Amino acid sequence: MIVDKDAFSNGQIDSKLWLCEELERMGWFSSMTHIYGGWHGVLGFLLLSRGRFQVHKIRSLDIDPSCQPIADMINENWVIKDWQFKALTQDCNTWEGPFADLIINTSTEHFDSIEWFDRIPAGTRVVLQGNNMPHDDHVVTTNSLKEFKDRYPLNKYMFEGSKDFMYPDWKFTRFMTLGVK
Ligand SMILES: C[S@@+](CC[C@H](N)C(=O)[O-])C[C@H]1O[C@@H](n2cnc3c(N)ncnc32)[C@H](O)[C@@H]1O
Repeated sequence: MIVDKDAFSNGQIDSKLWLCEELERMGWFSSMTHIYGGWHGVLGFLLLSRGRFQVHKIRSLDIDPSCQPIADMINENWVIKDWQFKALTQDCNTWEGPFADLIINTSTEHFDSIEWFDRIPAGTRVVLQGNNMPHDDHVVTTNSLKEFKDRYPLNKYMFEGSKDFMYPDWKFTRFMTLGVK
């Protein structure tokens, strides 16, 4: 089991806390939330430990099978509670799983196809993040919030925004939309 320390970097954690804060503001209840490209399950951990977003079940889906044991270990407190959290190995581009009333994808830059987005039924609540960071693992680079919205259009926007991350020798911008597809 090898944990990628980047999952706990400032750019990852502050982006997910930003998501938590905006999602919590909605006052939504979710019976089933799917997190696409859920990686080590850190977003699930933050949402559940903050306890302000009312969610019955979270499923963290990642195509990389090494993610499931790590995400379940980090979220053990909720795995043992009748799988309130559970990580699954799954390609979200072919996922035909059970109904979700909220789909979150903070890993859009890693998805080599838009199939996952096209498969989300109209009317589903979504939260999406992307960024303008050039990286060997990124197959999608977004240069502006407008470009991000054009790539993943929603019918209704409850939130849209950009967050700048500045470091001594580099910087990047994270984009986020929250609404209804
Ligand atoms: C490096 S991580 C996440 C970085 C991201 N910015 C975040 O917010 O956590 C990206 C994850 O997306 C996953 N991924 C890429 N394509 C996928 C797919 N088709 N289905 C499910 N997961 C996928 C990768 O396996 C990887 O664990």
